[in-house]
Amino acid sequence: MTVPFVDLKAQYQTLKHEIDPAVQSVMERGAFIMGKEHSEFEQAFASYIGVKHCLGVATGTDALELAIRACGIGPGDEVITVPNTFIATTEAISHAGATLRWVEVDPRTYNMDPRNIEPAITPRTKALLPVHLYGQPADMQPILEIAAKHNLLVIEDCAQSHGAKYRGKKAGTFGDVACFSFYPGKNLGAYGDGGAVLTNNDEIAERVKLLRNHGSREKYSHALEGYCHRLDNLQAAVLGIKLRYLDGWNECRRRAAALYDRLLKDVSGVVTPYVLPGVEPVYHLYVVQVPDRDRVQAALKAEGIETGIHYPIPLHQQPAYAHLGFKPEDFPISAALAPKILSLPMFPEITEAQIKMVVDALKRALRN
Ligand SMILES: Cc1ncc(COP(=O)(O)O)c(C=O)c1O
Repeated sequence: MTVPFVDLKAQYQTLKHEIDPAVQSVMERGAFIMGKEHSEFEQAFASYIGVKHCLGVATGTDALELAIRACGIGPGDEVITVPNTFIATTEAISHAGATLRWVEVDPRTYNMDPRNIEPAITPRTKALLPVHLYGQPADMQPILEIAAKHNLLVIEDCAQSHGAKYRGKKAGTFGDVACFSFYPGKNLGAYGDGGAVLTNNDEIAERVKLLRNHGSREKYSHALEGYCHRLDNLQAAVLGIKLRYLDGWNECRRRAAALYDRLLKDVSGVVTPYVLPGVEPVYHLYVVQVPDRDRVQAALKAEGIETGIHYPIPLHQQPAYAHLGFKPEDFPISAALAPKILSLPMFPEITEAQIKMVVDALKRALRN
């Protein structure tokens, strides 16, 4: 038996009877752009998260860039985020014309550490951009307090945290604006690319609406130069169906994580995920730290177990940011995590037998 890292085919098989007719219906009606599935999904996702507006866009990266632009952030402005994230977070800042600033993460959660924010604030800082990495919300209470004290906007990167909760409220309800990705492997994933911007702010919503569709309210009338960053209606049809299953899938992920936690508790050398009190994570990824990670990963692969690394090179060490001149030790926690972290197979359909197989193989790899 092999264990895949994620199993999108298994999920499709369980939903095929709903997805196929929904996709067929879009095709038969030729309703490919901004159709009824698009607006129905926007309404359903806004109400699921608990905010006023949801604007479907083409990708999570576009969601971030449009959100930053819609906040009026651009050249000369600084946005604070973390080096321990996917590059989309910082690409969006740079593509909006703003300057990125990194702050070190909390060594327990690998998320933005609120204690590091204030020293990084300058007169040019306009926003804090915490990432709810691996499906665990960042510590939002102190982040919001700092933002209020310094009059900063808060933009949440929720690409990995659909349905996660912090002190009883869902990720995506804390900031001025929140950005989701529906990349296929996400907790709520489309069958292609997709994303969304969520906000309670009417002005931000209106600007995102314009920006995503050529600055247009009415066809061929353009209030401004925008982009072609709309959510595909076929993807909206898929997402509308899958949204109904999201809570159940997240529950399956939490059960899988609890089993991993239990089986790995006493395995020497393995650090299992730390969950902040008051947080209900959704385990987009189940990430452990292991010694000699590359050898361990190769040993698991030899036994048919697929794993991932999120992320092998922190952003401050990426060639794309060499011009910023950072050394690994400038963000020592992020730098130290990168060679130790290993993402174990995690998807709603993973079975107890598969989890036990992963853990047994991991124990063998650590003994050798
Ligand atoms: C933390 C984070 N932010 C942003 C993104 C960008 O999303 P997308 O791939 O839909 O552009 C991703 C997706 O991989 C992500 O993991």
